[in-house]
Amino acid sequence: MTQRVRKAVFPVAGLGTRFLPATKAVPKEMLTIVDRPVIDYVVEEAREAGIEHFIFVTGRNKGVIEDHFDVQFELYDTLAQRGRDETLAMLQRVQPLPGQTSFTRQQAPLGLGHAVWCARELVGDEPFALLLPDMIMRAEVGCLSQMVSLYDQTGGNVVAVQECDPADAHKYGIVGRGARAGTGFEIDRMVEKPARGTAPSNLYLNGRYILQPQIFSILEKQERGAGNEIQLTDAMLKLKAKQPFYGYHFKGRAFDCGSPEGFVEANLTFALERPEMHERIERALRALTGEQPRGKSGLKAG
Ligand code: G1P
Repeated sequence: MTQRVRKAVFPVAGLGTRFLPATKAVPKEMLTIVDRPVIDYVVEEAREAGIEHFIFVTGRNKGVIEDHFDVQFELYDTLAQRGRDETLAMLQRVQPLPGQTSFTRQQAPLGLGHAVWCARELVGDEPFALLLPDMIMRAEVGCLSQMVSLYDQTGGNVVAVQECDPADAHKYGIVGRGARAGTGFEIDRMVEKPARGTAPSNLYLNGRYILQPQIFSILEKQERGAGNEIQLTDAMLKLKAKQPFYGYHFKGRAFDCGSPEGFVEANLTFALERPEMHERIERALRALTGEQPRGKSGLKAG
């Protein structure tokens, strides 16, 4: 019997330098995809997978994330008085219950491995999910839910992977594929940001993990790796020598909202999926890309 995954860690301490000036005062996790902050989608994915406790590793200037997940009594009261029942129900549907959230701070930007280690006391001695909030997933069944289904069969550690353009492999953690294991596969190699031309495959870690708590004692002693940061991938490689480690090929689409292009793409995709705005957005896109003749604006025709 595998131990159930009840807790999820969200490392939200990053400075968001790729999004300046937007992120000078606003955390990047609070930028919106249509009308919901990025972090909302990621927390929703965790909740859908059965997570009951949400652990945020924050940093300076991230206090608004804590406010976002708190009850806003005055707002809720005003909405109720004005009969805005649908809006109120929508807010309450995603409202964590009392005691379901925890916040701790990463006090120095030492890398993802260090951010995860900062959650060790809050996670304790049980398996946990880790969701990188830069990535928003779109799938009928959420990415973490799909992983939990594999984990229920295999136990151990599970990481989600997807294919990337081989030219982009140096930007990610990359894994090598071993033997089949249920709906997943055994991982035979793992390397963080391989030098160009050295990646073992184009299967990249897409930011969703189920890890056993023994990762924390490894992280505690983990030396700096790629980018001079304490890398989670390096610690996972050590854990893999002691425990089963599986890859799960995620069936769905990942939007890297940590990059402005991925963020805009996510906005357009999610907007097009909203029945009330689909027609207008589609018309606008057609006008921009198809119907406008090639002219001085530089917009492509046809
Ligand atoms: C992190 C991980 C990397 C993973 C990536 C996914 O890198 O270290 O293994 O592939 O997230 O977004 P970062 O984006 O923080 O450079």
